[in-house]
Amino acid sequence: MKIAIGSDHAGFRAKEALKASLTTAGHQVEDLGTRSEDSCDYTDFSFAVAESVSKKTAERGVILCGTGIGSAIAANKVHGIRAALVHDGFTAEMSRRHNDANVLVLGARVLAEERIMDLTKTWLETPFDGGRHERRVGKIGEYENRC
Ligand code: RB5
Repeated sequence: MKIAIGSDHAGFRAKEALKASLTTAGHQVEDLGTRSEDSCDYTDFSFAVAESVSKKTAERGVILCGTGIGSAIAANKVHGIRAALVHDGFTAEMSRRHNDANVLVLGARVLAEERIMDLTKTWLETPFDGGRHERRVGKIGEYENRC
């Protein structure tokens, strides 16, 4: 799968580890920064990942910042993005099954690195259930297109 990833300084280390893990697993990873632990704005990298998914350059996106909160708020401003801030296996799975989330957001100051790897794997491998959830997700897109 082609996956865009990005982080701010708080998520930098976890992003580097995740990039290595996803590449080893055979995914094509597009790293949109940041490139160091120097302080930066999570918005810049969140928008970059979200736009890559919105423009279909990448199939999915993963964003890391300290809590994940700011990145999720920013990513959800981008057209067509359903960014899910995930903390555990249940929310990782349900964000795919019920919400067809196309961007995963994780808090690098909340979750251990190993957990980040596990949650990302679950999220990438879980399909959308469709059915009644298709209608609900469709309503989000319809609302977005009216604004
Ligand atoms: C950076 O200090 C921190 O605010 C950021 O990583 C994130 O948690 C924002 O929501």
